[in-house]
Order: sequence, then structure tokens, then C-alpha cells
Amino acid sequence: MIDELNRKFGLPGVASFAPGRNGLPRLELRHGSGASLQVYLHGAHVTSWRRPDGREMLFTSGQSEFADGRPIRGGIPVVFPQFGDGPLPKHGFARIRTWRPEFVRVAPGGALEARLVLDDDAGTYAMWPHRFRLALDVALSDVLTVRVSVRNAGGAPFSFLAALHTYFAVDDIACATVLGLKGLPFIDTVGDGRKPGTDGCEAIAFDRETDRVYARAPARVALRDEAARFTLALDSEGMRDIVVWNPWVEKSKRMPDFGDDEYRRMVCVETGVVAEGIDLPPDGLWTGATTFRVE
Ligand code: BG6
Repeated sequence: MIDELNRKFGLPGVASFAPGRNGLPRLELRHGSGASLQVYLHGAHVTSWRRPDGREMLFTSGQSEFADGRPIRGGIPVVFPQFGDGPLPKHGFARIRTWRPEFVRVAPGGALEARLVLDDDAGTYAMWPHRFRLALDVALSDVLTVRVSVRNAGGAPFSFLAALHTYFAVDDIACATVLGLKGLPFIDTVGDGRKPGTDGCEAIAFDRETDRVYARAPARVALRDEAARFTLALDSEGMRDIVVWNPWVEKSKRMPDFGDDEYRRMVCVETGVVAEGIDLPPDGLWTGATTFRVE
């Protein structure tokens, strides 16, 4: 299978498929700037993004399963068509299905681009009776852009939620802050309730379990890691909501695929449409994208 993928999609020196963890196929992109990216066909799950100097920007748990039917803990899980709990598997089925590559290419400006696609099939239809085509586009240069597109390929409208559930690697959560959400209302989803809140601080800091949904958030937010001395800007189009999540001590212990202390080295800043569903008519297309840029 790997040989066939490379025959069809490999680009000498810059793009190749290789067996990843547990032999699951993954695409590896190596850009001339020094930046690199790994994305599994399982879930179209980006598990590594290294900036040009080689620093890994994404967190992936050492306890993660890499198994059919199981989500990967870390990187960029693709959430679709449900966010959180509901009738479907948690955060939807996109992150636990096998996607297929559509193309891998060098764009005219030199960025490496790849598209992975997930179409409805009997398995998804049994869970969610809609015809759709979901695409994940990655564009890697000295920055990374990830785009999610949803097409309604059926004859009836449907509604969905979607997100890039990105896990960032930080040196020390005590020194990490999220900027750009000052004074905005959020829904606090820690525990069982959904409590409204606002935060007047310039920066969100972490000293407890944090799980906040900011609906209609600004197009730009940033993650600052004072310990590692970087600021990572997230610029989104179409992704109108932001979720900020760190499981902290107790929840980390409850998650079987996450180390007890790993909450210290990660924070999720998720971009998507999670507060209110997107209604898509037959043949309708929705896209949302986030560009990640280290400043
Ligand atoms: C976040 C949710 O988006 O995802 C959290 O806000 C949830 O409540 C977290 O715990 C992780 O979900 P999962 O299914 O990957 O464990």
C-alpha cells in the first residue's frame, strides 16, 4: 500500500508516504524552509508540524493509541459533524475514519500542498444519513494553513459542526497564555454545566482545568509560551468560534490515552464552528481555514 501511495503521490525529496505508528500510513512533507509536517490517512490527522528551525509545534501524547476506530490523542484531530458528546461518536466520526489522498503538489509559490478526502460510505451513512464530501487541505511553507471543506453531496440539506482540535506543545503550561479573547463572553464547559463567563484579563493563563467555548471569536488569536519564547498566531477564515482546553490534573488521570503529567506540556486552541450548526443545502460548500504562524 505504501509503495502504491508513493507511486501515485510521492514527490522526490519533498513528499513521501511511510508507515507511521502501528504501521498506519502517513504522508510526510519537507519544505525547503526546513519546516515539515506529518499527516496520517487515519483521521486526516496531522501529528507533527515542525517550524523551520526544527522545533515541534504540536503535542502528541506518548500514551496515544494509533489504532483503527480510535482517535489519536494530540496533533490536529478533525472534528466533524458533531462537536463533543451527542448521538455520534464523541467529536464525530471524521477523526476515526480512513481518508484518501487526492493530490500532493508544489504550489506556484513553493508551498507544499496536500488534500485528503473523506466521502460518506455505508458506515458513515448508518451513523449520520447524509451524503457529503469532507476535504482537509494542508499548505506548508514557513507557515502552515489547514483548511476544512464540507460539500453536501446529497439531495437534502444537513447541519454540522466542525473544528480543528489543535494540541500545541508548550514547554510549561504555567508560562503559556492565550491572547486575543479579552473581555469576550464564553461558555465554561468544565464539569457537567455550561456556565456563561467573561474574563477581563489580557491573556488567559492556566492554573486549573479550563474548557471554554468562545462563540463568534476574533479572526486572530495567539498562543504565547514564555518558557519556549515563541508566539504563535492563529488567523482564521470561516472558523468563527474558538475553544480553549487544558484538562489539568484530575481529568488527565481519567483519560486512558493521556499521561498524568502531560497537561503541563500542551494546550488546545481549537478553531471551528462549534457553537451553532452550519446549514448546508444540496451541493452547498462550506470552508473554514486557520493559518498557524510562529512570530
Ligand atoms: C475538547 C472539549 O474540545 O475536547 C473537552 O472541550 C474534551 O470537553 C476534549 O474533553 C477532548 O475530547 P476527547 O474526546 O478527544 O477526549
